[in-house]
Amino acid sequence: MALSMTSCSIRMFRHGGVRSMSTQLSKINSASTNNLTGERRFYHKGSDNAGYQRSVQNGALLLAGAIIGSYGIYRYSQAGAESSMPTVQAKAVKTRVYTASEVAEHKTPDKGIWVSYKDGVYDITDFVKIHPGGSKIMLGAGGAIDPFWNLYAVHQTPEVLEMLEEYRIGDLSKRDQKSHKNANDPFGNEPYRFPVFRVNSAKPFNAEPPLEVLTDSFITPNEMFYVRNHLPVPEVDPETFRLEIVIGPKSIKYSLEDLKKFQWSTVTTTIQCAGNRREEMSNYKPVKGLSWGASAIGTAKWTGPRLRDLLMTSGLNPNHPSLKHIQFDGLDCDISNSCYGASIPAKNALNHDNDVIVAVKMNGKDIPRDHGYPVRIIVPGVVGARNVKWAHRIVASDKESDSHWQQKDYKHFNPSTTYETADYSKVQSIQELPVTSAITWPQTNSKVEPSEDNMVEVQGYAWSGGGRDIIRVDVTSDGGKTWKEADLMKNPEKDDSSQTWPWTLWKVEMPVKIGQKIQFACKAVDSSYNQQPETIKPIWNLRGFLSNAWHRIAVDIVEEVD
Ligand code: MTE
Repeated sequence: MALSMTSCSIRMFRHGGVRSMSTQLSKINSASTNNLTGERRFYHKGSDNAGYQRSVQNGALLLAGAIIGSYGIYRYSQAGAESSMPTVQAKAVKTRVYTASEVAEHKTPDKGIWVSYKDGVYDITDFVKIHPGGSKIMLGAGGAIDPFWNLYAVHQTPEVLEMLEEYRIGDLSKRDQKSHKNANDPFGNEPYRFPVFRVNSAKPFNAEPPLEVLTDSFITPNEMFYVRNHLPVPEVDPETFRLEIVIGPKSIKYSLEDLKKFQWSTVTTTIQCAGNRREEMSNYKPVKGLSWGASAIGTAKWTGPRLRDLLMTSGLNPNHPSLKHIQFDGLDCDISNSCYGASIPAKNALNHDNDVIVAVKMNGKDIPRDHGYPVRIIVPGVVGARNVKWAHRIVASDKESDSHWQQKDYKHFNPSTTYETADYSKVQSIQELPVTSAITWPQTNSKVEPSEDNMVEVQGYAWSGGGRDIIRVDVTSDGGKTWKEADLMKNPEKDDSSQTWPWTLWKVEMPVKIGQKIQFACKAVDSSYNQQPETIKPIWNLRGFLSNAWHRIAVDIVEEVD
């Protein structure tokens, strides 16, 4: 059902009117989801008209996802890798090879709009022309759209696949899919990154996905997960890699094969950088640090042995009086050989219900290099900084990690504290994160077309650390005089988690009037009834951490988006 509607809708879209296509897209969404995880059903609980508004703006990318998804199936099926997948007779593939820079030169209608997916290059200028309001598809213009694959994988169909071939103009050069090694540059051996990211710093690499697609799937695909690196990405040989556990004078080393002998658990958790939404804080008053938007947050399924099991098997006495902290050392170091490290209190690490994982898989795949290959510590509900990537040593200790990032960073001061007066030694390191939420759709400063009954659908995420669930999200369009409660969407899948670690996605339909310039704001309430502060003023701090005031966006309500 969902499959045939998708292809039929695309044909309508190419030959028919915009409005009818959009309606079809709205239906595709509903149809596609009912037989899947159920997660997208959430977005279409409201009236058809409300769904229409969302579909107009979202349709292009959904369609791109459909095209991309189908093409991927085609390539796999040609290679015999997915024999159960449907195949189609493709047109002869043109063999001209393009570089990524050539693709990058084509991102405007006058020069042509090109995208690449895996090893193919596509000219989608005609497709974009017939789709007004396709704001999301333009995110991929001039670059690789592979990261969208897993967001919109529900649209993988053989019919759309045929259409994709119509847009193919050649192959992407092999070289552009690999990291470039440069021995003279400490950052000369970084992994390939998709151009979809908003890059906040190139060396070290720090980047976040576009906010408007962040909550299009409950699980953030690996390629879309924000990257927060303090140092160059190490290259690790899985054959020689050892994870060392140090307990007093004793040290035990585990190979990756050894780790397979432990029972593995899968825990779905949101990880958030302490600097998420720092941009808003610096807009109020400048702070030091990368200017993160609201996408330095993501949700993934992490799999591996439990840290507790590893420590106990290695002979840890959990009642030893000097056992206070568990330290983690990363393999990423600077030129003076100072490496990343962090620690968490031992009682938290050893509590089974805290689900601390020595992860070897991210969303079922080897952890990508940027996210800590081959082993990463996952401490659910705790600030991203303690989720140490490229972990190679775990130390049971009476002290916190002495790394810069534990001692001299990731601590919070009051708004009057300056760099001159800040005494890091007296302040507790940030561990569990406070409640937060953000609006991911519509985009701030965009034009928005309401549904026929004058509603605009607002969507976003909400999350709290420490395993606290989100029990309510409130949205206002009049500065907080009146509020509407959003519909909440929880993790649709069960895993081995003992507490609520992942975010809650939400949506609400807000009444609007054509011609209005409107500000939407959201705030979440967690299961301990913690709420977000109204403004940044009382929480401002010199490093711009824990920026969790009400999230606000401004949009123009227009009759028609041109
Ligand atoms: N681990 C190592 N070894 N090196 C790092 O730079 N950054 C930390 C944490 N773990 C970091 C690290 C910070 S500040 C964050 S927010 C998260 O990793 C980011 O994880 P991600 O890049 O997988 O999103």
